[in-house]
Amino acid sequence: MALPTQKYSDCQNKFDARKYLEVYYGVDPLTQQIDEESQLTLAFLVKVFSSGAIQGDSMIEIGSGPVLHHILSACDRFKSIYLTDYLDVNLQEIDKWLKGSKDAFDWTPYLKYVCEVEGNRSTPKDKVLRIKNKVKLMRCDVTKSNPLEPHTLPQTDCVIAAGCLICACKTLDAFSNALKNIASLIRRGGHVIIIDYLGASYYLIGDAKMNLLSINENIVKREIIDAGFEIDEFKVENDVSIPRETFDCKQVFFLLAHRI
Ligand SMILES: C[S@@+](CC[C@H](N)C(=O)[O-])C[C@H]1O[C@@H](n2cnc3c(N)ncnc32)[C@H](O)[C@@H]1O
Repeated sequence: MALPTQKYSDCQNKFDARKYLEVYYGVDPLTQQIDEESQLTLAFLVKVFSSGAIQGDSMIEIGSGPVLHHILSACDRFKSIYLTDYLDVNLQEIDKWLKGSKDAFDWTPYLKYVCEVEGNRSTPKDKVLRIKNKVKLMRCDVTKSNPLEPHTLPQTDCVIAAGCLICACKTLDAFSNALKNIASLIRRGGHVIIIDYLGASYYLIGDAKMNLLSINENIVKREIIDAGFEIDEFKVENDVSIPRETFDCKQVFFLLAHRI
């Protein structure tokens, strides 16, 4: 058996999926309130998917981690949803939720929040059923020309990559290639949604420090256009509520683009 690469073994050893969920997706125990950054992200995704203009047979989330957060609106718009990640531990964490395991992470506060923002046209229970029926899990590596290798899928209607690219890419060249690799998964006219951070260099999961690629707005815009997309929306939020000692992020950006 081939030895794992250094990058894979570092990431594999350090990434504690459960701790990640507790640190970055834990809710206020008294109010069950979700944090401000999650609210911004979910509001953006509700807006993107509410018109029905972005929908179709399938969507793929690249680097979903152990997280369901980004498909809570999209689950109403696509027949199949592929949640993909580099690490099995993350897919296993989602699998626990899909199978209704007692120790699965509780996404109820997030489901309730999205239903409210959508005007309660569906209930959290409806969304749970929809997600369980539609989601399939798959390994991916966004640095590969086919990120889903050894699998292939028909070109998809939409890709979401949230918090993934600045983790997965160690250099600007790798970032540029990863966007092109993502583009290859999307049909012409299909959409990409990228949510990521500007000016960040690390984040912590407990004691484990994960290095990030520091990028700025100009780099993102230049590279997304170079990868064959036209930008529909690019929004930057400054006041991210994550404590600076956990994550040295300066700004979060929300990008919607379509493949030309
Ligand atoms: C900060 S986490 C983000 C997880 C989740 N998307 C979120 O928003 O909370 C970064 C994710 O990128 C994944 N990742 C790292 N390298 C990757 C690669 N080469 N290809 C795809 N995903 C990768 C990690 O396994 C991890 O799940």
